[in-house]
Amino acid sequence: MLLAIETSCDETAIAVLDLKAFFLGAGGSDECLRADLLASQAKLHEPYGGVVPELASREHSRNLPLLLRQALSKAGVGVEDISVVAVTSGPGLKGCLLVGFCFAKAFAFARNIPLVSVNHLEAHLYAGELLPAEERPKFPALALLVSGGHTMLVLISGFRRYEIIAKTRDDAAGEAFDKIANVLGLPYPGGPALSLTAKEGYGSRYRFPVAMRSDMESFSFSGLKTAVFHTVRALGDGVNDKRTLANLAASSEQAIVDNLVEKCLPACRKYRPKSFLLTGGVAANRLLRSTLDEQLKKMDILFSVPPPKWCTDNAAMVAALGARIVERRAPEYAAWHAAKDRRGALGPDTPHDSGVLARWPLEELVEGHASA
Ligand code: KG4
Ligand code: ZN
Repeated sequence: MLLAIETSCDETAIAVLDLKAFFLGAGGSDECLRADLLASQAKLHEPYGGVVPELASREHSRNLPLLLRQALSKAGVGVEDISVVAVTSGPGLKGCLLVGFCFAKAFAFARNIPLVSVNHLEAHLYAGELLPAEERPKFPALALLVSGGHTMLVLISGFRRYEIIAKTRDDAAGEAFDKIANVLGLPYPGGPALSLTAKEGYGSRYRFPVAMRSDMESFSFSGLKTAVFHTVRALGDGVNDKRTLANLAASSEQAIVDNLVEKCLPACRKYRPKSFLLTGGVAANRLLRSTLDEQLKKMDILFSVPPPKWCTDNAAMVAALGARIVERRAPEYAAWHAAKDRRGALGPDTPHDSGVLARWPLEELVEGHASA
C-alpha cells in the first residue's frame, strides 16, 4: 500500500493506493484507490479573498492526523500495511509544503519505509492515470495544465520526457478566473463562482481580447483582466444588475476559454498527439471541457479528462505518480531496502538533505536534465 499526502496550497489531502492493483492497471477504481480524502480550507480563506499561507499551514497541521486516521480506516488497513509514502515536495507555499513533508517524513522514518518526493505539477499530469484504461493518455500526448499558479502546454513522449511548448507570460488561467471574479465582487474561490454566475449569462455579450494570436508559445491573461476591469468601471453601479453581472461573467469565462483553446488546436495540428490531457484546477471548468471535447472529436484525438475531483488538488494524483516512480526505479528501491546503513536517508528519491521547494519547474524533472 502507498500512502500519498498533498498539502501544497489550501487543500489537505490523503490517499491510500493498492500498488499491486495499480500496476495491474486498475487505475483509480475503488479496489485500487482504497481511500481518497480531502479537507478543503475554502471557508477558512474566503473572508480574505485568497489563501493566507500561515493559516493554511496551521490548518494542514491540524487536519493531517485526523485525515490519516480516516484514510486508513476507509482503506481498511493499518499503519503496518503501508510500504511507501509519497508526498508533494513542491512547487507551492513553502510553509504548507513543509507541514506535509515533515508529517510524511516522520511516518516513513518511524516505519522504516521509503519516502517519495513528488512534484505537484508532474502529479497533475498523472491524474489521467486514474481514468479507466481506455481513457488514459496515450503517448505522445499533449497536456494542457491549467491551475491557480501554472498554465502550460506540455508534449509528453514518455516517462519524464516533457517538452514545454507554450506557457503563460503573466497570470495563470486560474489566477485570471480568481482575479476577474474578485473584480466582479464574486466570492473566493473565484473559478467555480465565476463559472456558476456565467451559467445565467451570454458569453457573446461583451468582447474581451484573445492575446498574442500569432505567438503559439505564449498564453497571456493580463490584457483580458484589464479589459474586464475597464468595462466594470465604465458600467459603474450597472454591474449590480443581475443580468449584467451574469453576462460579464459569461463573457470573461468565454474569453479565458478562447485564449486557451486557440493555442491548443494549432498545437494539436502541429504535433498530432494520440491523446490530449486536460488537467489542473481550471480543467474542472465545464465550458473548457465541452469546447475541447467538441474540437478534439473533429480531429480524432482521444480526450483524457479526469473528473473534477482529480483536476483540482487531490492526493490520488500524488499516489499515481508516486507509484509510477517506485515502479520505474524498482532496482534502486530494492537496493535501499537491502542496505544496512541508510545514514538517515529515506529512499532513492529523498536523500537526507532534501526538503521542499517553493519553485520546482517541470523542466528539471526531464531525464538527462542537469539537476534531475
Ligand atoms: O490545481 P488547483 O486546485 O490548485 C493549484 O495547484 O493551483 O487549481 C486551483 C485553480 C483556482 O484558480 C480555481 O479558481 C480554479 O483552479 N478552478 C476553476 C474551477 N474550479 C477550480 N476555474 C474555473 N472553473 C472551475 N470550475
Ligand atoms: Zn494544483
